[in-house]
Amino acid sequence: MPNNLKNEIEILKKEKNAIILAHYYVDGEIQEISDYVGDSYYLSKIASSTSADVLVFAGVSFMADSAKILNPNKIVLHPDSTADCPMAHMVTVERIEKVRSMYDDLAVVCYINSSTDLKAASDVCVTSANAVSITRALPNKNIFFIPDRNLAHYVSAQVPDKHFVYNEGFCHVHENMNVDNIIAAKKIRSDIKVLAHPECNSRILDQADYIGSTTGIINHVETCSDKYFYICTEIGVLHQLEKKYPDRIFYHHPDDVCQDMKKITMQKIYDSLKTLSPEVKLDKEFSEKALKPLIKMLELSE
Ligand code: 13P
Ligand code: SF4
Repeated sequence: MPNNLKNEIEILKKEKNAIILAHYYVDGEIQEISDYVGDSYYLSKIASSTSADVLVFAGVSFMADSAKILNPNKIVLHPDSTADCPMAHMVTVERIEKVRSMYDDLAVVCYINSSTDLKAASDVCVTSANAVSITRALPNKNIFFIPDRNLAHYVSAQVPDKHFVYNEGFCHVHENMNVDNIIAAKKIRSDIKVLAHPECNSRILDQADYIGSTTGIINHVETCSDKYFYICTEIGVLHQLEKKYPDRIFYHHPDDVCQDMKKITMQKIYDSLKTLSPEVKLDKEFSEKALKPLIKMLELSE
């Protein structure tokens, strides 16, 4: 990376009282110049409490939109507004309304990887870091968990006393992971530990020694004395793992890449700070409605 681009970003950040929030899935060089790097839960907590005037979100649309919902009066920049998570659109408001009409005592639990209109139609948001504890704490018997079916099945196994209604959404990166790669790695290294994100398909999760959010995976390594790990989530997480644990060896399949996360580049971050665009603009009515389930998530996670 040209050093001057990094310096120019630093100058612009000071000039505009801006911060950069980056998800673990963006390129390592972006994680390095960011003020906050983390999982979806951590980043939404930071977004809800910052005193900065400008927030630059290095991640996909639902993350930048959540920051805007939490800060309607601040400038939230998304350096590439086409960087979107396909799963965030894999259910409709009509389906939510239909399921509501079919069940009494129902809570619509909305994974934060969802568009603003879906959040607005939901009762509470969750991330992979708090989905189990929040769902368990809800008073409702019936749970409609949207949009991710893999996370829903993972949560339902941890919360067996509730009745789940599933939706057929999925993350193509985690859904398409091939279990044969893990089995092959285990054959070569029988002492390898498999760490997986709950968006993975059940064939992968069945092979996992640990299942958790991106932060959960990174922190879990600290608790292990093992040397070899097979990481089942997006490749960007390797940046922090290799930086934090230089004495461990991490295996990862090169196909496990989220192309939308990779759309965010240093140049686009520089351009967006310079021009204060593209700015996140949301429908006021949806945004106000979506704030409630997000605030409920932050309260229930305390
Ligand atoms: P985390 O909340 O674990 O960071 O995951 C976000 C995500 O998009 C997973 O695909
Ligand atoms: Fe969406 Fe999957 Fe990319 Fe996460 S990794 S942002 S769930 S497409």
